[in-house]
Amino acid sequence: MSRVPEHVAMIMDGNGRWAEMRGKSRLEGHRAGVRTVERVVGWCRDAHVRYLTLYAFSTENWKRPAEEVGDLMKLMTLVLKTKAAAFRDANIRVRVIGRRADLSQVLQRMIAKIERMTDGCDGLQLILAISYGGRSEIAEAAYAYACAVRDGKVSGAEVPSDAVFRSYLYASDVPDPDMIIRTSGEFRLSNFLLWQSAYSEFWATPVMWPDFGKDDFSAALASYATRNRRMGGRP
Ligand code: IPE
Ligand code: IPE
Ligand code: MG
Repeated sequence: MSRVPEHVAMIMDGNGRWAEMRGKSRLEGHRAGVRTVERVVGWCRDAHVRYLTLYAFSTENWKRPAEEVGDLMKLMTLVLKTKAAAFRDANIRVRVIGRRADLSQVLQRMIAKIERMTDGCDGLQLILAISYGGRSEIAEAAYAYACAVRDGKVSGAEVPSDAVFRSYLYASDVPDPDMIIRTSGEFRLSNFLLWQSAYSEFWATPVMWPDFGKDDFSAALASYATRNRRMGGRP
């Protein structure tokens, strides 16, 4: 049995504090965070992780000042635009989960393009959570299920099973995250993958996201390998 998590999800937190500690702007912190993303993708591939989900922007992050929101949107648009060919050439399939309609037309187009370009890739799957919120994902799934009942596509006579309900969530073919990593010393999910994290192993580090290194990633994988995942059963 492999002890490598099949699906790793990361809450990339601490860009702002990393920048503040260095007298830099928050934008510089977010730029440094992008460089960590590039490194993390390589480590996951080398470790044979199959799915990597990265929390890039939450439904609550819209509350931030317009300038920072604008910087983050521009940065994400730029990354998707400039990295699409490199992801395809590296056989990485890129997908986006979240409330797409919240995003600018140009960002929506970049997302559609990178998803199309990397559609046939069968190496690592990189899932970017943009304008993502677990509560909104569950509400959207419940609404879609209600619509299916209304339209006579499903009977609705019984409470849907986990397998049926899952099929209404975003990227529902992706297995639940085996491990969730959070940087910056916080111990909370911040509305990340609420349904899917039911049995995820949690690993947190005080390291700020731009400083998250290979040794931290290796420590997380080593910790995962020691976990006894009972899933409610008996060992
Ligand atoms: C994470 O860094 C990136 C996003 C949430 C978009 P933060 O911007 O939250 O950095 P801190 O938590 O303020 O240090
Ligand atoms: C979580 O970080 C969201 C992302 C990493 C995109 P936040 O910085 O938004 O989380 P809180 O506000 O500390 O809970
Ligand atoms: Mg934060």
